[in-house]
Amino acid sequence: MNRAADQSEVNPLREGLSTRAVPQPCSLVIFGATGDLTHRKLLPALYNLAADGELPPTVTVIGFARRPKNDDDFRKEMEESVRKFSRQTVRDEIWGNFSQSLFYHQSDFADESGFKKLAERLEKIDEERGTRGNRLFYFAVAPDQFEPILKHLKAVGLNKAREGSWARVIIEKPFGSDLPSARELNRVVSNSFSEEQTYRIDHFLGKETAQNILVLRFANAIFEPLWNTRYIDHVQITAAETLGVEGRAGYYDEAGALRDMVQNHLLQLLCLIAMDAPSNLGADSIRDEKVKVVRCLRRMSADDVRNNVVRAQYSDGAINGKPVPGYRKEEKVDPKSVIDTFVALKLHIDNWRWWDVPIYMRVGKRLPKSATEISVHFKKAPMVLFNKETNDANVLVIRIQPDEGISLRMQAKMPGTSFRIEPVKMDFHYGTSFGKASPEAYERLLLDAMSGDATLFARRDEVEGAWAFIDPIEEAWSAKKEAPALFFYPAGSWGPNEADELLARDGRAWRRL
Ligand code: BG6
Repeated sequence: MNRAADQSEVNPLREGLSTRAVPQPCSLVIFGATGDLTHRKLLPALYNLAADGELPPTVTVIGFARRPKNDDDFRKEMEESVRKFSRQTVRDEIWGNFSQSLFYHQSDFADESGFKKLAERLEKIDEERGTRGNRLFYFAVAPDQFEPILKHLKAVGLNKAREGSWARVIIEKPFGSDLPSARELNRVVSNSFSEEQTYRIDHFLGKETAQNILVLRFANAIFEPLWNTRYIDHVQITAAETLGVEGRAGYYDEAGALRDMVQNHLLQLLCLIAMDAPSNLGADSIRDEKVKVVRCLRRMSADDVRNNVVRAQYSDGAINGKPVPGYRKEEKVDPKSVIDTFVALKLHIDNWRWWDVPIYMRVGKRLPKSATEISVHFKKAPMVLFNKETNDANVLVIRIQPDEGISLRMQAKMPGTSFRIEPVKMDFHYGTSFGKASPEAYERLLLDAMSGDATLFARRDEVEGAWAFIDPIEEAWSAKKEAPALFFYPAGSWGPNEADELLARDGRAWRRL
């Protein structure tokens, strides 16, 4: 059986069509076990999987971090977080069982002896708990810690699995801060783990509605004939958050919105919207098509950046009527910071399908509402029959979050004796149609990594291709002379006027969310 065919059998998108691959027993070692991600996302995700009966009971979680504590301390700490952040209410009995599979391993990331002890401990866990020599290493640490950890895993032989078992590594974002650093990171990772062993997380790919894009596009024959420059006027992608920098200034004040959200999450969504149909549902077939989109992104010159990209930062304002400080006043932010907390941009995909179809993206913190959606705006009907401008008559909206669903807007005749045309919506809501809550993205992704399915993870060439598109924008912004302006918007507004002008110049407007 060839590899693609083999992978298609374990692909999550085939759910319902064939049996889903079963996550295998394994030890999950989390580096950075006392960090925010472990508390807010990873442990709650693991608990929910256990509560839903999705997690093999043998899965064993080993928190690896510097601070001294024992297994019991770790379990107590995790219980608090899981109770706070879990999607479902925590049930004592389930927590009681689940917590027995949590262990703590104290070591410095730079101390090889700590990794030797880890290897011994994992052997013992295999014997006692039946984890069968399968290891999943989760890097929930700052990128400067990746190299020492990878080096030591290799030094003690944990990068290689014994016959019939596997070893995999999950790497969190940010995956580099530009193309050279991403390449270097890929080189460092590949010194210890092969590409097949490497799972780069982009948690947007684990969101239910993001996965549904491929089903919507390729399981419904009605869309494909319309999905091109002949029928589509433009596409908008918005990821708005009411949250501010939330104590992450150390990272955010270096990264900014373009690197934090556009390079990864928004470009991944764009790939799903813009890709051609894969030849099968294997991880590599899908990723091959996505990477073709990334490669076709038109690179921007410094002038293009000035004309097509708006960067901005929030100033004092109010969210839900509550005053909030401007970005420069946030804790640990440089009071003269020129980091972008908002980006709006217009880009093009230079291929036949998308020729001359502008893609508008905007992303921002401290906006009036938290919502992520993609809208596909179809061309206008000719104005020969109904003497009315039908601007944006047909819009297909994919709501990634919240209120996950899809709606199609069209024109209808209003009841009555006059011939009045008004837009109406056909609406599908996940919640009401399926009557069950969607799992959190991390639940899905952890399970996929345990099943050996890399479809919803970013491949090396995708990540590097995305940086190749982003770098010229960052370079133009950091130019010593004539760098494009940084605009300001009051917290709680939809960004600076310049973002509206970007579309108004083309005779278009952002969709109201
Ligand atoms: C993260 C970014 O990757 O995604 C954060 O670093 C952002 O800045 C978050 O808030 C948004 O994710 P979600 O799932 O809450 O929409």
